[in-house]
Amino acid sequence: MFFKDVVWTPDDPILGLFDIFKKDPRQDKVNLIVGVYKDAEGNTPILESVKLAEKYLFENEKSKAYLGISGSVEYCELVKRLVLGNDHDLIKEGCVEAIQTPGGSGALRLAADFLYENNPKAKIHLSDPTWDNHANVFHHAGLEIAYYPYYDTETKGIKFDELISYLKKVPNGDVVLFHACCHNPTGTDLNEEQWKEISRLSSKKKFLVFFDFAYQGMGDSMEEDSFAIRIFAEENRAFMAAYSCSKNFAIYNERTGALVISAEKPEHARNVMSQLKLCARGNYSNPPSHGAAVVTTVLKIPEIRSLWKQELIAMCGRIKTYRQIFVDTLKNYGSKRDFSFITKQKGMFSYSSLSHEQVMKLREDYGVYMLLSGRINIASLNHHNLDRVCTSIVDVLSDGEG
Ligand code: LMR
Repeated sequence: MFFKDVVWTPDDPILGLFDIFKKDPRQDKVNLIVGVYKDAEGNTPILESVKLAEKYLFENEKSKAYLGISGSVEYCELVKRLVLGNDHDLIKEGCVEAIQTPGGSGALRLAADFLYENNPKAKIHLSDPTWDNHANVFHHAGLEIAYYPYYDTETKGIKFDELISYLKKVPNGDVVLFHACCHNPTGTDLNEEQWKEISRLSSKKKFLVFFDFAYQGMGDSMEEDSFAIRIFAEENRAFMAAYSCSKNFAIYNERTGALVISAEKPEHARNVMSQLKLCARGNYSNPPSHGAAVVTTVLKIPEIRSLWKQELIAMCGRIKTYRQIFVDTLKNYGSKRDFSFITKQKGMFSYSSLSHEQVMKLREDYGVYMLLSGRINIASLNHHNLDRVCTSIVDVLSDGEG
């Protein structure tokens, strides 16, 4: 009998938990789960700039014929420039290629398939902790996974010395995945000096660096958030980056991303691209068009581009403001725990330092949902739910910590 030996597997820790949340009948439940921007009213609006681009496309788009395997050439060129800046030497020299993918996750998986095809013995090294889905993506491509020391739960900073010692021992040919900015789930990024040190070390070692770049513009700004990659590209010509437009263009369900690769020489880049196209063709054939067409239109029409920049700054600013409001409100409700570290974290997420037990109690007794790791989507906080979230956390903490 078919399927009789298939075993049940638990829900995804992020999207699966959201499904559980949706079924919770409590009216006052609060969703701090998925990494999606929300405005002050708790909505995830379509940006005005995106609406304008869609209007333009509605009036001007001529065909829904397939894109090529690597997607829209124009979009890929624009993404390269978002990642490395206009006029980067590596781009001018023809060392950088990009392939449009279904979201940033599609870029991660495409890279994983390519890595496994071309070097099945390569291990991928992930930060401890990392995005809950990373291991799933790389495991399904067949890659072996290891974890490098990253977040220090005591200091709420980075275990930088341990990280450097670990990197010194990474075997040649392995791949190290870094979050280029807005580390998911901790919100704790390396600083400029630390990135420089890692970049110098990588130039001497022979592991490949792979950046997950899903939050450009959500941490500080488009330019500042690309610091890691740009500093890295000064000393290292070969690297990969999985890019997502989901968050910075708020087009989550359009699945719009790209895999950017930079190689020592143009012919290397060309060869890698040929392999990536083979992997893409064997997986999803060619990418969906609409999201990339929207991004291209936003970036190409100067008035729409400047409106988008303002909207991005507003999203980023609201999250920053709410970090401080969250910390202050917890204090005002009498939290004995110092949460001020949350204001130093970057991007959508805060690693709250709440334990599994506290997270479960918040979920079961108060209907406040966050990831089991204690990750909170700060963008989900607003004036309707802030008091409820903060009083619940303070209650749960005072139960356990007196
Ligand atoms: C998240 O981390 O919440 C987002 O990246 C959404 C997802 O797919 O997990």
